[in-house]
Amino acid sequence: MKAIRVHQTGGPEMLSLEDIPAPAPGPNQALVKIKCIGLNFIDVYFRTGLYKTALPFIPGMEAAGIVEAVGEGVTVVKPGDRVAYAGVLGAYAEYSLVNAAQLVQLPENLDFQSAAAIMLQGITAHYLTHSAFPLRKGETLLLHAAAGGVGLLLIQVAKKIGARVIGTVSTEEKAALAGNAGADHVILYTRDDFEQEVKRITAGAGVDVVYDSVGRTTFEKGLNCLRRRGMMVLFGQSSGSVPPIDPGILNVKGSIYLTRPGLAHYTATREELTWRAGDIFKWFSEDSLKIRIDQVFPLEEAGRAHQALEARQTAGKVLINP
Ligand SMILES: NC(=O)c1ccc[n+]([C@@H]2O[C@H](COP(=O)([O-])OP(=O)(O)OC[C@H]3O[C@@H](n4cnc5c(N)ncnc54)[C@H](OP(=O)(O)O)[C@@H]3O)[C@@H](O)[C@H]2O)c1
Repeated sequence: MKAIRVHQTGGPEMLSLEDIPAPAPGPNQALVKIKCIGLNFIDVYFRTGLYKTALPFIPGMEAAGIVEAVGEGVTVVKPGDRVAYAGVLGAYAEYSLVNAAQLVQLPENLDFQSAAAIMLQGITAHYLTHSAFPLRKGETLLLHAAAGGVGLLLIQVAKKIGARVIGTVSTEEKAALAGNAGADHVILYTRDDFEQEVKRITAGAGVDVVYDSVGRTTFEKGLNCLRRRGMMVLFGQSSGSVPPIDPGILNVKGSIYLTRPGLAHYTATREELTWRAGDIFKWFSEDSLKIRIDQVFPLEEAGRAHQALEARQTAGKVLINP
């Protein structure tokens, strides 16, 4: 099968297209014939070595496809089933091995492209707003990179709940996209001081929660945007890792909370996974959760896809076709 492998961590040039044998499913595993691959920022963290795994590896944490074969003991899916998954390494290939318990069946109306576009980032938006900080109607949130893959979905889910969304973006074009997705206020954080803007918009009160996936360049100021006992949900670091902090700062800033959640811990049981995926698929089918597909690259151009994502040139979802 065709697959992208990384033999040494580094830049996009480390993604090399190879011909390797397709794997066979072991006990509790399914072999998935991949129809569409979702690109996520985590793919960059693995490629650069920020997130560690054994070398060589096949990158990619999200795909949709058809079950080709199953190993011993698999009951949740069978060959021919249309499925998607998130959070399992090895998607940049024509086939991938997945623990069957991590596969979700696709409803009939959900095509492979949409499934690969919504699975990981949709479930992320779901757990961030329903579990990491369970948002309530009338609450105000600050969301960085609001026109990103997670960003555009999280805005829509937050508006469903009835929260007020303040988003930050780097360009006017992205501001328009975040506004169209439902953001109540959009700040150009490359032009304006977002801390001052948030204080102005909230009349000094601050926000209930900050959803920060940008990290290094936004984290510290984000703490100043919180209300007393508000929560900082740091869920990524697209601009670089946040340096260590003194826990005393949480007191100084108003007895605030800090969490650094990850998808795996919010989809750890099959029940939780199917709850979140079920909600996302239902909202998509009702047309109350819309996907914006930004660009689709062929597998051999995965490096270009990474470059575009890292250069902040994408808005919404980037897909890769095997
Ligand atoms: N913890 C979890 O469970 C989880 C799950 C999914 C995703 N995530 C995280 O969520 C974030 C968003 O992921 P995504 O795949 O949807 O990506 P994305 O938001 O579509 O892309 C990243 C965006 O971050 C912004 N950004 C700000 N500074 C940047 C910099 N120096 N370099 C690159 N980008 C910068 C850019 O938006 P502007 O141009 O508007 O600044 C860029 O478009 C990532 O940090 C990812 O790791 C975490």
